[in-house]
Amino acid sequence: MFRMTRYIKSLMNPAPVRPVPKPAGPVVIWNLIRRCNLTCKHCYSISADVDFKGELSTDEVYTVMDDLKDFGVPVLILSGGEPLMRPDIFDISHRAKAMGFYVGLSTNGTLITEENIGQIAEAGYDYVGISIDGLEQTHDEFRQKKGAFAASMKAVELCKKAGIKVGLRFTLTQDNFPQLPDMLKLLDEHDIDKFYLSHLNYSGRGGRNRKRDAWYDMTREAMTLLFDHCHDELQRGIEREYVTGNNDADGPFLLQWAEEHYPDQVAALKQRLTYWGGNASGVNISNIDNLGEVHPDTFWWDYNLGNVRNKPFSRIWSEANDPLMVGFRQSPRPVKGRCADCRYLSICNGNTRVRAYNISRDYWEEDPGCYLTNEEIGVIDMPRRVAAPVTEIPVHNL
Ligand SMILES: C[S@@+](CC[C@H](N)C(=O)[O-])C[C@H]1O[C@@H](n2cnc3c(N)ncnc32)[C@H](O)[C@@H]1O
Ligand code: SF4
Repeated sequence: MFRMTRYIKSLMNPAPVRPVPKPAGPVVIWNLIRRCNLTCKHCYSISADVDFKGELSTDEVYTVMDDLKDFGVPVLILSGGEPLMRPDIFDISHRAKAMGFYVGLSTNGTLITEENIGQIAEAGYDYVGISIDGLEQTHDEFRQKKGAFAASMKAVELCKKAGIKVGLRFTLTQDNFPQLPDMLKLLDEHDIDKFYLSHLNYSGRGGRNRKRDAWYDMTREAMTLLFDHCHDELQRGIEREYVTGNNDADGPFLLQWAEEHYPDQVAALKQRLTYWGGNASGVNISNIDNLGEVHPDTFWWDYNLGNVRNKPFSRIWSEANDPLMVGFRQSPRPVKGRCADCRYLSICNGNTRVRAYNISRDYWEEDPGCYLTNEEIGVIDMPRRVAAPVTEIPVHNL
């Protein structure tokens, strides 16, 4: 996760650069249920409105939570499928909060109603993230459900009214790229606390539909718009949080933005970004799926490290010595192609390995989602070995 607001603020209000302390255990994104009332075109968990057998029981979840706490896991992001379809979601959430975890709820929002908003507020989530992937028609097509946009925006309002910190999560594709300026207006109109731009990752249905990924030029335009917008809001005293995920080239791209806008602060920003360290899969990010399988992150559901029913998460995570996890923990990671020669490798850490693997079948190939040019990354005469398989449509202008 790339905390854009934090870095833009550091450009505007320079302060001494210090290493970011890393918690003992990783952040755990926990897909407690795979069932979902929607069937989104990009869904990495290939969720649908059917019952998936063999999911962890409430007691099993509690046993895992005790181990995660002892292991020093600071954050639980409760996800799915649609986590609000789990009948025990509020019991799990209350227990997680009582144990002292930072608890986030990752939801499509369509099941948040006047009836359950009280329970959601009482659960005490530190943050509720609601997915919105475009304006009404685009969102409903993407999420394959008419009325989804209206229901999710109603959920945003209910959360705001109940005093819950709420954010929109927007996965960028060719289809919703032209609507990004309108999405930013929505933030203002509804006084939304946070905006998370998620780049498309090629796994599950997101792998099958990867041709709808944004072009490099689109991604660059989207990111520049976001930097400018965040900067403008900060100048006006608006402290909304902007974060991005699934493309660690966002760090170097901000560094280039800073070269233009804050040339005196470039060295300090570079140091801060190096401390951040880019992609954290298998190190500071982990995933447990609905069946208890542990993965290096949410997008590696085809790659199992072990099952919490057979071995505690803490042991699975510390004892993992398979080739992918060994590579994740290596510094620098054993990446190839343009990633290997990139002058920003110590900032982005080789970006997103799932995309590289989805296209090339090699964990360590260059990431086809990197939107930086050869000139920017400091490599000469190196054609892309793995290119993003995007559908060719005319580039929209924002
Ligand atoms: C799997 S969903 C589960 C929570 C809830 N059902 C929802 O849609 O918000 C978690 C988040 O991952 C995002 N997501 C799903 N597949 C993705 C992909 N292939 N690439 C990037 N983000 C993805 C969704 O848009 C959502 O914001
Ligand atoms: S992205 Fe979320 S809402 Fe969409 S199908 Fe997957 S789990 Fe359901």
